[in-house]
Amino acid sequence: MTTITEIAPDIFRICTFIGDVGMQFNQFLVRDREPLLYHTGMKAMFPTVRAAVAKVIDPATLRWIAFSHFESDECGALNEFLSISTSAQPLCSFAGAMVSVNDFALRPARGLQDGEVLTSGTRQFRLIRTPHLPHNWEASHLFEESTRTLFCSDLFHQDGELEPTTTSEPELMERVRSTLLRYQTGPFSDYLPFTPMTEHQLARLAALKPEVLAAMHGSTFKGSGEHALQELSGLFREVLVRSR
Ligand SMILES: [Fe+2]
Ligand SMILES: [Fe+2]
Repeated sequence: MTTITEIAPDIFRICTFIGDVGMQFNQFLVRDREPLLYHTGMKAMFPTVRAAVAKVIDPATLRWIAFSHFESDECGALNEFLSISTSAQPLCSFAGAMVSVNDFALRPARGLQDGEVLTSGTRQFRLIRTPHLPHNWEASHLFEESTRTLFCSDLFHQDGELEPTTTSEPELMERVRSTLLRYQTGPFSDYLPFTPMTEHQLARLAALKPEVLAAMHGSTFKGSGEHALQELSGLFREVLVRSR
């Protein structure tokens, strides 16, 4: 079952729990003069995600298909969405556009530089370049400034079938910790690398003072994103470095 929840004004979380892998896959739809979809989900999810988008806007009016890095749950259905909306264009980091997206996508991407802002009408999206955070060279994060929403991609990944939003930071961090530990010891170890840039990048994201953390897997957190990102930085050092 797919659920739709408005997590901030005109920002909708589209959530599908996939039992086989025990996690939720979330896409975020921003309703504005130029509607933006953050994450498409995998290609196989396209009919489901398109139907959910259609409950909020006409999918043919989508203008931006945005994502953090080149991976199936981020942009697997990119070309399917570009096919149903002739005005839609991929939106990603400049590196993402140059390295993968412009070769793969039906139409060239708008590749943003670090700190560059795109306006969709009433919303302003600032791209923060975060190479190898959560993973992949071209990775970036998008911050919507008017609602202080940080699209977190795989940061704050929480496995399980969870409620759309949570305001409890201890609960959030406990779920993130147990998920991270599970990945460190399983066949998917090294899901998230810890690089010489990781803590600095997390500090840059914290300095944005987000109030909504829109995670791709699990609940959206509403509260002090600055504090939660500082906690995440400590957790990464503890789990990704010391537990090796
Ligand atoms: Fe990923
Ligand atoms: Fe993901």
